[in-house]
Parts: sequence; C-alpha cells; structure tokens
Amino acid sequence: MATTLVRNGLIISPTGSIAGDVLIHDERITAILMPDESERLGIVADRVIDAAGKYVIPGGVDVHTHMELPVGDLVASDTFATGTIAAAWGGTTTIVDMVTQLAGERVQDGLAVWHEKAAGNCAIDYGFHQIIGGVDEQSLLAMEYLVEKEGINSFKLFMAYPGRLYSDDGQILQAMQRAASCGAMILMHAENGMAIDVLVQQARARGETAPIYHALTRPSVLEAEATHRAIALSEVAGNVPLYIVHMSAGDALAQVALARQAGRNVFAETCPQYLWLTLEETLGRPGTEGVKWICSPPIRSAHDAHHHQADLWRGLRMNDLAVVATDHCPFCLKDQKDRGLNDFSAVPNGLSGVEHRMELIYQGVVAGELSLERWVETCCTTPARMFGMYPRKGILAPGSDADLVIWDPAGTTEIGVEAKHHSQTDYSNWEGWHVDGAVELVMSRGRVILEQNRFVGRVGHGQFIKRELCQYLVCPNPTS
Ligand code: URP
Ligand code: ZN
Ligand code: ZN
Repeated sequence: MATTLVRNGLIISPTGSIAGDVLIHDERITAILMPDESERLGIVADRVIDAAGKYVIPGGVDVHTHMELPVGDLVASDTFATGTIAAAWGGTTTIVDMVTQLAGERVQDGLAVWHEKAAGNCAIDYGFHQIIGGVDEQSLLAMEYLVEKEGINSFKLFMAYPGRLYSDDGQILQAMQRAASCGAMILMHAENGMAIDVLVQQARARGETAPIYHALTRPSVLEAEATHRAIALSEVAGNVPLYIVHMSAGDALAQVALARQAGRNVFAETCPQYLWLTLEETLGRPGTEGVKWICSPPIRSAHDAHHHQADLWRGLRMNDLAVVATDHCPFCLKDQKDRGLNDFSAVPNGLSGVEHRMELIYQGVVAGELSLERWVETCCTTPARMFGMYPRKGILAPGSDADLVIWDPAGTTEIGVEAKHHSQTDYSNWEGWHVDGAVELVMSRGRVILEQNRFVGRVGHGQFIKRELCQYLVCPNPTS
C-alpha cells in the first residue's frame, strides 16, 4: 500500500481554507494534518509532494457531459478516453455523463451501450444520468429499475427539441411523479421547444440562416417560461427535486430564486460559456465562424434588457445556482458544425469545455465574483452532494477518495489549439483565453495522473460510480 504526503499547501473546502498536509494511503485520504504534525508524528511516506505556495483542492466534479453522444448521423467528437483525459488536464477527476434514450428505445439497452463505451476507457471516475427521450410505460418502469439496481437516480427531460428528445407537459408530469415515488431527481432542459421551432421556421423563411439567428430564435423569455412551467409541474408531482441544467439567463434564474425562497427543492446549474461569453463575440462573429458556439440554450447578448452574466454570477454567490458544470458536447468544425454553414438549424448543438471549467470559474475568484471556497463548493463539493457521491468525491477529508488537485495561483494558462487544448475538436471555444492560475498536479484515487504538464494517468483507471440519492435537499419531506 503506497503512502503519499502532500505537504504545506493551502487546503480549500467550502467551510474554509487551512494550511496543512494531506496524507493518503493507497486510494483514500487518511488524514488532514496541521503544519509540522507529520514530522511530529514521524510519518514516513513513499512520496512527498511539496505544495508550498499552492492551493490543494478536491478534484473537480463535472456533472453534465455528453461523451460520444449520437446526434442524428453525427457523434460528439470526444470519446470517453479523449474526453476524460481532457478533463484531467483541467483538474476534473469525476464526470457524470448523460445516457440517452430516444422514443421507442429500451432504456436498459441504451444504458448497456453507454457502459460498453465507457468501461475500460475512462481516465477518471464516472457516473451516469439517464435521459428519458421517450416517456412511456416502459421507460417509467425502467426509471425504478435504474434507481434500485444501477446507481442512476437522476433523469433528464427535454422541454426543447420537438420530434427528438421533447416531452410534453403530460409526459413530464408522469416522469416527475415516477421520480418522486422512487426518490429520484428530475433534470430539466428548460426551453419552450414548440415556440422556438415556430421562430426557427419563420427565420429560415425570411432567409435568416446565419449562426446569430440560432440565439435570436431562442429568446431568454422562452427559457424563463419553461423554467417556470417545470417548477410548477414539479410541485404538482409532489415537490419532486428539480435541477435545471445549463441555465443561461437572468429571467430564468429569477424563477428558480422564487421557488427557492418558497422552500422548494429546486436547484440550478450554469456553465462557463454563459458566465463569460457573449453573443456578440461568438455567434455574432462575421461570416459563419459563429457555428462553433451553437449550443442550447444559446449564449446571451451583452445588450439584453437582462444583465444575464451579472445575474448568473450573483446567483452563484446566493446559491440560486448551486453548481457549475460544462454541458461538454463537442463537435468538430470539419464535417460536423460546418453542416450548418448555410442554415444554423442544421448545426449539431454543443460546446467543449470539460478541460477548462476549473480554470474559467477560478477567473471568477480572480475577478472578485466568488470566494475561493465558493469556487470549490460550486465546482467540486455541491455537485458531489447533489448527485450522491459525497463524501467519496468533492471534499478533502479522511475517508474520501484521494482525488486532488494542486493549483498554482501564481501560474497562468493559455487556452487554444496551439496552447492548452486536449478535447478532440479542431478548434477551441476558448481560443486565445489567457487566464490566471494553473493546474500543477492531479491525483485520481491516490494515483498521480497529471504532473509537470504531462498526462501520466491511464485510460481504464476510471471506475463507474453507483450513486446514492441526492444529498442536497432543502428538506427531505417539506410539509408546505
Ligand atoms: O447544445 C447543447 N446543450 N447540447 C447538448 C445537449 C443538451 O441539450 O444538453
Ligand atoms: Zn440540454
Ligand atoms: Zn447537455
């Protein structure tokens, strides 16, 4: 059994930061020691890693990824291998990927395919959410089975994408009721897909096919309306825990804030692209380059009536946004995104980002938007608690998995295809971003997987995590 001692770092957790050492035996943390305590106790380690002047944080937990996601005849370009290596490069040591079921398919068949794709191919640990793209008796029964037997207790539904993943309100209510009865959580893609489809057809008929029209046909009010409706349906379904994914807009967030003020088990996630990028500098670029940033919900304008980014940062501070994930769903420009150079509605939706989440949200610390502790809480600890992986993941504490990152606050990181970029795409959504702070070392279950700017881990090291139920409810049995 190997012993590792990470010495003299500033150890960050949601409850504070303390100077000290992390003692690791094999795959687990065995002690957090005060400075010099390891000398006093005469601890002998196989490897001593000096973290003086550095932050020591839990490995990042990204609870929203789509590796190898099939979309029509295309497949998202990161495999479980390339995507989890990219994650490791950015200090993320756990992902929760979205298994996808379409109408008419058996949930268990899709799950078997996902296990096949991921098993033996991940560099870091991973769990699964289940997308229910076709709510019917079979998929409702499968939800119970997944909770009981498979360690999958969070189900994503879509109010967007009619004809593909969309569920109507009746189907949503049924799935919510089933989730409530088995203690599970509903994840919601909250955009009014029916109204959006009308706007898309009208824009195309007017010849408005440039990338910017992707955003202009998905106004934030349709995200806010869908968010409101999802919250109302979750109340009717017995206050089932509801988690709104990839929130992009201040007016949608206001709906979550209202529900939370009323004591509801309603939670929300945002992503770095909504916190940092604007419509004008992405989809609004001249020509067709904007296709690289087509995702749903869209990146919002800096000139909207709502100050979306300021609202999202405040939401993160106030806990109306509890989690930052990436919605990592990369497509190459060549032969994938470029399908829609003449029609934004033909572009596969999604951005890459699993590598850069920790770096980009750390910029919120640098900019004074978040504390160090809140950075760790929203990117590591709460995602682990929200999705039943705590305290194994998301915290540096005795008994936890030794998933750890040494972060150099004095370092800098340049993002871009010629700089730091490990996702399997032929461009970076973050090209040219030069950010403060750098990942110096990454450990997954006690094994160093990245150091001295080299990935030294192993594809196949990552293990599947059977997750517990949500550990983050406002109250497990609210009475009103
Ligand atoms: O554009 C996006 N977000 N693509 C990934 C699928 C989803 O809706 O999360
Ligand atoms: Zn979605
Ligand atoms: Zn997604």
